[in-house]
Formats: sequence, C-alpha cells, structure tokens
Amino acid sequence: MGFGNVGKAFLRLLISKETEIRRRYDVRWRLTGVATRRNGWLADPDGLNPLAILNGRWPAQHHSLQAGNAREWLEHAKADVFFEASSLNVHTGQPAIDHIKTALELGAHAISVNKGPIVHALSELTALAREKGKKLLYEATVMDGVPIFSMFQLGLPATELRGFSGVLNSTTNVVLTEIERGRSFEEGVRRAQAIGVAESDPSADLDGWDAAVKVAVLAIVLMNVPLRLEQVRRTGIRELSEEKIRSVRTSGMRYKLVCRAERRGDGVDCSVQPELLLASDPLANLEGTSSALHFDLDVFGLSLVEHNPGCWRIFFAPFAASSPRFNACISPHTPASESPGRTAHREWGLRTANAVEQSPPIPAARSLLHRPALDRSEPSRKFPSAAISRCSWPSALSHSAAARLPSVPAKSFP
Ligand SMILES: NC(=O)c1ccc[n+]([C@@H]2O[C@H](COP(=O)([O-])OP(=O)(O)OC[C@H]3O[C@@H](n4cnc5c(N)ncnc54)[C@H](OP(=O)(O)O)[C@@H]3O)[C@@H](O)[C@H]2O)c1
Repeated sequence: MGFGNVGKAFLRLLISKETEIRRRYDVRWRLTGVATRRNGWLADPDGLNPLAILNGRWPAQHHSLQAGNAREWLEHAKADVFFEASSLNVHTGQPAIDHIKTALELGAHAISVNKGPIVHALSELTALAREKGKKLLYEATVMDGVPIFSMFQLGLPATELRGFSGVLNSTTNVVLTEIERGRSFEEGVRRAQAIGVAESDPSADLDGWDAAVKVAVLAIVLMNVPLRLEQVRRTGIRELSEEKIRSVRTSGMRYKLVCRAERRGDGVDCSVQPELLLASDPLANLEGTSSALHFDLDVFGLSLVEHNPGCWRIFFAPFAASSPRFNACISPHTPASESPGRTAHREWGLRTANAVEQSPPIPAARSLLHRPALDRSEPSRKFPSAAISRCSWPSALSHSAAARLPSVPAKSFP
C-alpha cells in the first residue's frame, strides 16, 4: 500500500537482494498487489511483474477492483504480508489504520513504515494482531532501518528509559544545511525532495509534525505511556530566518530541530523545536540526512547515530521492518519459542527457530550501537528555542562523532 519513495525503494531492494535472502534466510517472495492513489489498486495472486511496475508499466487490471476497498484488494491479492507505506496522516493515522486492521483480519502479517497507525492505534492493532496470531512490525517508523524497537525488546531487558533526545527529521536537517550553504529555504526543500527524503508535501517535516510523531512513537512504545500527539510541544523551522541561520553559523553555532522526551511522574514531557547548538554538541555535527538519538537509561546512556545514509536509508527502512528474523538475529539470546521466525508461512517461507539461532548477526546493525558511559556530571538541560544548548551527550559519542563526521570549526564555517 503506497508506492512512493519508500515503496519503490523497498521493491528495488527486494529484487536486488532476492538471491541473498533466499540463500541466507530461505525467504521467497511474490508481489501480488500494489495500491496508490493515482495508479489505482492492482492485484494478481499469481504475481505482478515487479520490474515492469518499477518502470511505470502498470498492467491492465483483469479483475475490476474498486479503489479504496482494501478488503476486496487484499482478498484478491491473497496477501501473506501487507506493507503499509502510504502517506502519513498525522491527525488521524487513517486510512492506514483501517488498512492494517483489514490485513490482520484477513490473516496477513502487517508491516508499517507509516507512523500514523502506531501513534493513533498501537494498542488496538497490537491486540488484533495477537488475537489473529500475526505480527505487527513497525521498526522503520523511526530512524529508518536502525533497529531501535528490536534492540529494546530483545537486547535491553529490565531497563527503564528515563528520556531521550535527538535529531530525527532529515528534511529539516537538509534544508538547514542548504541554507547555511547560501541557498534559499525553497531551494533547500527542493533538494530534500530531489534526494527522496521529503514527501511530495513537505509540510509535515517543516512544521515539526514528522519529528513530533516520531517522538510520540518512541514514547508510546519504549516508555509505555498513553501519549497523545497534541501533548508533544511542537515548533517547526519555518519561523527561522535564513539570515539568522547563516549568522549563527559564523559564530560557531548551528540550528537543529531537536526532539526531547523526559519522564515526569506517570507521564512524559515531550518537545520538538529548533535549538541553537554549540559546535561541540554532537547533534550540531549531524549533516544532511544523518540522524541521532541518545537514550537515558537507568543503567547507562546509549547513543545511536545514523551517518548520512543517503538513498540506502529508504531502501533499508521497510526491508528492516519486514525482517523479523533479521531483528531476531540482533540478540543471540532470543529464546527460540519467542522468535518470530517460528511461524511457518506459505510463500514467505520463514524457516524454523533453529535456523534463527544459527543465522549470523548483521554487522551493520551491530556497528550502529555505541554504549558509552553516561557523563553524569553534565545533566540534560532543556533550552527554549533561541537558547544555546550545552552538550548533554556523552563525551565518548562526541569523540566518535568528531572522528566520523565532518567537523564544524568553532568560528569559520564554510
Ligand atoms: N521517505 C522516507 O525516508 C521515509 C522513511 C521512513 C518512513 N517513511 C514513511 O513512509 C511513508 C511513505 O513515504 P514516502 O516518502 O514513500 O511518501 P510518498 O513518496 O509521498 O509516497 C506515498 C505513497 O502513498 C500513496 N498513497 C497515499 N495515500 C493513499 C491512499 N489513501 N491509498 C493508497 N495509496 C495512497 C501515494 O499514492 P500516489 O503516488 O498516487 O500519490 C504514494 O504512492 C510515509 O508514511 C512516511 O512517513 C518515509
């Protein structure tokens, strides 16, 4: 469902990795349906030609399917796995929520890169998936393919997440970087669209909605609070003038759209706003499409950085989300009985739990994990939009980021 940047990139990746995923995981796939607003709703249980569809050659429909009727479409496609990659509706999560419900009711696993259903209907969808004995996966909703939810679920038992901070929206990062380089706001937006990080309508990114929804997804899933999206304080980047963005850079600082969440009693205080960061702050070093998250856990601090992933981020995002067994590989201690890979499935051909245990870990996923000691002498601080943030990230990350990312000299930005 949805065949834009993500849907197309996912299909390309499935095609290019076909042999590898068959050899390593014994997973075979067949594309039996595609639906978009403009190209209509196609289904063929015998399989559509993925290359032809990628090249814009949509076959004539043999069976007349009514656009918007997800039940009829899924029944005709006989889908084992349903991928939801349609546009984000921040306010209701619809129609994606209804589409996922229908897929689960019809006995398909559901995998969403769309954050709307997770923010607005996670408990309902989880309960339905459990009742139907199917998986609901959403790993790619935040930071693309970085295995955040799997990491907490499989690798961090009995930890308490006290809060997190980070930069999670690529479009605003690209736009701010382009403005620093002397381009206009509109040129920055066009650049973000050209490299495929901005959706056709970029308002959700520029007004902070996308980042706010990600904060809400993280807080709901990882901090287990019934947060509503309106409870995330949100300011986008439209109010920042181009002159201001360039002038602070010459003084050794940068604006970033920073996300924060902090547990307060039974609730969580969440915000998304532009913050003025010193060059020494690791978040200030994030260029282009990079994103970063620091988790403040009761046992240690944990930081994840996705380094300028380029087009591979959207290639990998739904791929990671669709691979419960890849996620299972990240924790070598996953009990076989809990492994999603146990579910034998027709065309999807998942192997046995034994195979899951023998599968090698994914080096790329492992290398994303840093576990520096949290610098307790430098407590997290919140800053209003025009304040200067002191570095509240662990110094170890600071060194690692400095070594791997383009440095931002204190006073002479290019
Ligand atoms: N881009 C990223 O890097 C990224 C990363 C992670 C997650 N996501 C999430 O992934 C989703 C897709 O992003 P994208 O960049 O691929 O967006 P996009 O390029 O704008 O594509 C959206 C697709 O959804 C289709 N669509 C929208 N509403 C629909 C409906 N009611 N029924 C059927 N199809 C519908 C559109 O159809 P038409 O083509 O006919 O308009 C289009 O094919 C979003 O929820 C986004 O937040 C994106």
